Amino acid sequence: MKLANRMKDLKPSDIREVGKIIAQKTGAISFAGGLPAPELFPAEKLDKVTQRLLQTNASEALQYGPTLGYGPLRGKIAELMSREGVVANVNNICITAGSQQALSLTTMMFLNPGDTVIVENPSYLGAFSAFQPFEVNFMGVDTDDDGMDIEKLEQVIKSTPSAKLIYVIPNFQNPTGRTWTLERRKQLLAIANKYDIAIMEDNAYGELAYEGERIPSLKSLDTEGKVMYLGSFSKILCPGFRVGWICAEANQIEKFELLKYGADLQNNQFSQMQIYEFLNSYDLDEHIAVIKSEYKIRRDLMLKVIEEKFPSEAKYIRPNGGMFVWMELPEHVNTRELLVKSLEKNIGFVPGGSFYAGGECENALRLNFSNMDREKIVEGMEILAQVLRDNI
Ligand SMILES: Cc1ncc(COP(=O)(O)O)c(C=O)c1O
Repeated sequence: MKLANRMKDLKPSDIREVGKIIAQKTGAISFAGGLPAPELFPAEKLDKVTQRLLQTNASEALQYGPTLGYGPLRGKIAELMSREGVVANVNNICITAGSQQALSLTTMMFLNPGDTVIVENPSYLGAFSAFQPFEVNFMGVDTDDDGMDIEKLEQVIKSTPSAKLIYVIPNFQNPTGRTWTLERRKQLLAIANKYDIAIMEDNAYGELAYEGERIPSLKSLDTEGKVMYLGSFSKILCPGFRVGWICAEANQIEKFELLKYGADLQNNQFSQMQIYEFLNSYDLDEHIAVIKSEYKIRRDLMLKVIEEKFPSEAKYIRPNGGMFVWMELPEHVNTRELLVKSLEKNIGFVPGGSFYAGGECENALRLNFSNMDREKIVEGMEILAQVLRDNI
């Protein structure tokens, strides 16, 4: 059978591949996936709201629901958007199957085959997987500690008439952990307005801040409706629900409704209602405070081992939030080869090249600190330090 052209360039995610190898190894320590700490999921509270829901409102919870999502949850999400300085109501919210589906729907909405999406270099590799089936190109623009290099962005836009969308993760970016300054955010918006290009603002990690002030979201600074804001309950509650959202202008949400209907009719009604009941019965901030305090400790433990035991050639970024530490090694080190050695010692990470639109930068790696417990972080990082000492 002949497959569609869109299948040509699809390849498995490096994160999932490392995850599969790790899953087959007993006692392995994984710094690969961007997984939350499972022991911190509020399982008992969710058990209570689930039982109550089934006892009192099973007929609605198990029924089909609206394409844009469960109305009361859309309202709650609109309220949550005020934390980002965004004034929104239910008409500005489309609930999606995680923010991953929001990436696909936004690509569908703005890009024709052959069009280009501009991404940070490096960026979330799962986004590349979301873009690829739509037969679009993606181009990386270099970033520094303050965000995307705006001059280079403008050059790329000028030389790429097919550029229709810019995808950015301004808070505690995946994979680098960096946060954009306010100035860069404003500059990005100015460019998007000047060239009439849509922005996809992915804020998967914004609530996981361990230090520093909250910087206004792009959406809150957006005066021309250019920003599609992507949010998610995956990192602040649990990813298993698969509930995320798009916040955009009401007329854009009407278009998302058409796409969402074709994609899957609607999100899982039951999990939307579970989340709604949870938000109604418990304090989300209290839960976020619990996970933040543990992740901060884990981050600090990871950084301590890096500082004390890693070779001095290993340069890393200290993240003020999120789930990842990004590390660059001397140029002659290939981290895909290093991963093979590291997996022999039962330690996983994601090679940095996977996060570059063009696969460049093979001497970097991404380390997750949210998923493993404190002891495993120290143990695994000490083993990784030895792997590095032996191989660089
Ligand atoms: C930057 C970023 N965006 C989106 C996602 C997708 O998350 P979800 O679909 O679970 O909301 C992830 C997952 O790790 C991510 O890191």
